[in-house]
Amino acid sequence: MKLLYAQEEIARHVKELGAQISRDYQDQELILLVVLKGSMLFAADLCREITAPVTLEFIRVSSYGSGTTSSGEIDFKVPLQCDIAGKHVLIVEDIIDTGLTLKVLHAYLRNQQPQSLKCCTLIDKKKYRQVDFEADYVGITMEDGFIIGYGLDYNERFRNLAGIYLLDPTNLPFQGEA
Ligand code: PRP
Ligand code: MN
Ligand code: MG
Repeated sequence: MKLLYAQEEIARHVKELGAQISRDYQDQELILLVVLKGSMLFAADLCREITAPVTLEFIRVSSYGSGTTSSGEIDFKVPLQCDIAGKHVLIVEDIIDTGLTLKVLHAYLRNQQPQSLKCCTLIDKKKYRQVDFEADYVGITMEDGFIIGYGLDYNERFRNLAGIYLLDPTNLPFQGEA
């Protein structure tokens, strides 16, 4: 596997996103809605770069299972546990790929009538977009490639890598190797 974005580079993007979000929300109370599992590390770092008064909420949705392509079916594994009606909500995602997860999630949340609903993604991957969904805040834009690390998994592994790496689809790792 090949290093694409080193820890320091990711940190620079996270800082910049945090500054933009802080400027936009200023003193407004904001719910950071962390989409588990992938955005766990990003959200942990991002929330510390935001000066607006934030609360953290979690939801878990999944569509990739053990493969490298989206199943197209979004499974709500842990539903939203709080009332977002009338609140400012910012969805925190690690990556937008086909856009299906965010499209479904956005519609589900919109339906609960938050005062505002925006989305922040660390990575916007363009090539396989199936629905036109654009995030309000984007850290890194890339064209193609299955990536792992910094929360992103292949078959549940490699989320704990500090950097983001490109996985060779013709040579997928098994068990311990990558
Ligand atoms: C990944 C990623 C995003 C979503 C993006 O989650 O974390 O949530 O897929 O893909 P899409 O735009 O094609 O829908 P995954 O389903 O792998 O679950 P995980 O976060 O638990 O790894
Ligand atoms: Mn995810
Ligand atoms: Mg995944």
